[in-house]
Amino acid sequence: MRQLRCGIIGCGRIGCSFDDYTKNKTIRTHAGAYFKNHTTKLVALCDIDKDKLQKYGKKFKVTGIYTNSSEMFRSEHLDCVSICTLPDSHLDLVKEAASHGIKGIFLEKPMSNSLSNAKKIIEICKKNKITLAIDHQRRFDPFYYSVKKNIKQSKIGKIQLVNLYYGAGIANTCSHVFDVLRMFFGEVESVSGNFSTNESGNKLDPNIDAVLKFKNGIISKLNSIDVRNYGILEMDIFGTTGRIKLNLATNTLEYFKTSREDVLVYKNLVLSNINVKRSHQSAITLGVKNLVRCIQTKNEPLCTGEDGYKSMELILACIQSSIERKEVSLSLLHNDYKINSK
Ligand SMILES: NC(=O)c1ccc[n+]([C@@H]2O[C@H](COP(=O)([O-])OP(=O)(O)OC[C@H]3O[C@@H](n4cnc5c(N)ncnc54)[C@H](O)[C@@H]3O)[C@@H](O)[C@H]2O)c1
Repeated sequence: MRQLRCGIIGCGRIGCSFDDYTKNKTIRTHAGAYFKNHTTKLVALCDIDKDKLQKYGKKFKVTGIYTNSSEMFRSEHLDCVSICTLPDSHLDLVKEAASHGIKGIFLEKPMSNSLSNAKKIIEICKKNKITLAIDHQRRFDPFYYSVKKNIKQSKIGKIQLVNLYYGAGIANTCSHVFDVLRMFFGEVESVSGNFSTNESGNKLDPNIDAVLKFKNGIISKLNSIDVRNYGILEMDIFGTTGRIKLNLATNTLEYFKTSREDVLVYKNLVLSNINVKRSHQSAITLGVKNLVRCIQTKNEPLCTGEDGYKSMELILACIQSSIERKEVSLSLLHNDYKINSK
């Protein structure tokens, strides 16, 4: 089978540059993932910054470098494109890609800047039979399916509380948290949020603390920490018979079970097992593999446009609740708030 011709719009951190800083050889960028995959050929890079084009054109041996995405689409006859720019540009770039016969789009989170634009992206892709995958990376990673299985098999009993800790903004980092929460626990019924006193220095993407009530009765508490002190992305799941502490950044799971020591009245939680992701395949390389397979088979990707939309809905519900100081029920029918940042 011929290799798919792939391009990238936005050669910033997630498009190209994260790999410049990784000490081991883990691939963390779209460019790295296409470059490494035998079924894809990275043939085009697009960025408004010429220096990045020169640098990454050289690094990935790509001669098709463009400062204008229309020109790239016209010249390169791409099968697949990654859109790695900020959310307010996503709809226009998806429209452009669709009008040039693209087969697959790997779209960065948050999938757009407003719910109405996200809906349009999904409609355009459906109408043009484009496979649309959103880069909530943990959906592509078997490690997270094994955690989900542990929870489903009641390894920690009935869930009593899920605590979350994140740093860099409700849209930027928390969008990943929302996606993993939905993956593990299903749909959210309502959200009550407050702007956090632990700001992270980005007024466009505030930190918000919130309580999420799931349709199945589970309660989750979202806690933010100022990312300028250190980054954090953790989920702490308390069941009736144990606890799972999950570090979403290092892919590490700590499992605690209850035990009773003679002198104590109450049972204790005791660390029983530590499980670290073993596979060398990074989530983004698995994401590209999944996208390619879905372009070929016409199956749904592991993270769909609908998943991206639901994650955005949770971001915007938190923003709405914090501004209007009231509990917000989902699904959101009318929400004109915007995501202004990563
Ligand atoms: N999935 C993840 O784990 C992950 C990680 C980091 C960032 N992201 C997301 O990826 C997106 C980009 O984030 P980033 O941190 O890489 O940003 P960045 O600012 O480092 O990179 C964006 C790049 O897009 C370029 N650009 C902007 N408009 C353009 C246009 N019209 N045409 C071509 N190039 C254009 C900029 O010059 C810049 O190089 C954000 O939505 C962010 O939330 C996702």
